[in-house]
Amino acid sequence: MAKPAVILVAAVAKNGIIGADNRLIWRLKSDMKHFRALTMGKALVMGRKTFESIGKPLPGRHTIVLTRDPAFAVEGVRVARSVEDAIAIGQEVARESGTDAVMVAGGGEIYAAFMPLADRLEITEVDLEPAGDASFPEISPTRWREETRHDFPKSADDEAAFAFISYVRR
Ligand SMILES: NC(=O)c1ccc[n+]([C@@H]2O[C@H](COP(=O)([O-])OP(=O)(O)OC[C@H]3O[C@@H](n4cnc5c(N)ncnc54)[C@H](OP(=O)(O)O)[C@@H]3O)[C@@H](O)[C@H]2O)c1
Repeated sequence: MAKPAVILVAAVAKNGIIGADNRLIWRLKSDMKHFRALTMGKALVMGRKTFESIGKPLPGRHTIVLTRDPAFAVEGVRVARSVEDAIAIGQEVARESGTDAVMVAGGGEIYAAFMPLADRLEITEVDLEPAGDASFPEISPTRWREETRHDFPKSADDEAAFAFISYVRR
């Protein structure tokens, strides 16, 4: 079996913002469903702050939390102490569960640390320019190519227009 891919999954505003005060800042029901479908059954790596903002391991996913805190322990969560550690645990989980990817679910610090190692980016581009304190790193067009893009309008379920974009390395 091929080595599991490292895939970053993020919802990113037009100005790069992904969150404020350790929470999400928009309501996009379609994106929640999209995230669920992309990550179900898979290894899901996240930073300790994002984990605390969610509050629990997400059902059906194998949660791996990155932290430097030696006291961090939560039932149902694997703990990683470094980026390399998180990838090694994620790839082991992927092999054990017969899946083909390690999904990286943020937040800002974690996306920045994993960007150089990512094989693919699954980005929801949100048509808003909010204030915030966490952001996604620049997606350089010289390194990343848009493979697919699907645009959706604002609706009763989704407070802004958005696009699901898959990027692959050039
Ligand atoms: N829009 C989206 O798709 C999306 C997705 C996820 C999160 N978010 C947002 O992003 C924000 C949180 O992002 P953030 O940057 O503040 O925090 P974060 O990336 O979620 O977590 C940062 C924490 O991860 C740990 N960490 C980071 N690098 C590490 C390394 N190399 N080795 C070991 N541990 C490491 C540290 O935990 P310790 O301090 O415990 O050592 C650090 O404090 C929130 O607003 C959240 O809502 C948005």
